[in-house]
Amino acid sequence: METTNRLRQEHQVILRVLDCFEIALANSRESGRASAELLEPFVEFFRGFADKCHHCKEEQRLFPQLESQGISREGGPIGCMLREHEMGRVHVQKISDAIEAADSGDENAMLRILYEGEAFIELLRNHIAKEDGVLFEMADQIVQGADLTQLTRGYSEVESEPVYADIYSRCSALADRLIKMYLPPKA
Ligand SMILES: [Fe+2]
Ligand SMILES: [Fe+2]
Repeated sequence: METTNRLRQEHQVILRVLDCFEIALANSRESGRASAELLEPFVEFFRGFADKCHHCKEEQRLFPQLESQGISREGGPIGCMLREHEMGRVHVQKISDAIEAADSGDENAMLRILYEGEAFIELLRNHIAKEDGVLFEMADQIVQGADLTQLTRGYSEVESEPVYADIYSRCSALADRLIKMYLPPKA
């Protein structure tokens, strides 16, 4: 489990923020309004925490390690995960591109955000389920001993980079704020 523990924990944060995003999009659909104030924190979180921090550790450390131990990239699970990271970036870019127009009341821009946002939520939930249930299970089995020591050192190297640490702490605080706002604990 040590191989994938911290990535699995980050998945839990990402899934909670996806739940928040789903509620925010449903509110926009109902009200016919999609403001920049509502949407920009989500774009910042998905770009920062999910992509720059979490996907970076997968792409730069875990996946190369798995590839070196025989799990294939092309036509295999790693290639599939990388393609899905890229698809996610495209969805987030399209959402970001439409925010200004949606904020000023352009209905088509709002509908584009709803469409891209809902597709992104589905993509990322399925992606995380595949990593947790398949790829990370394989990783936990095969990365052991010196390979595991090297991998965890690699994660720590990435995490100690000043830019990473700054984005991670800013986006973690953002996630806490979004979760409190959209998913308050039941009384
Ligand atoms: Fe991933
Ligand atoms: Fe992941």
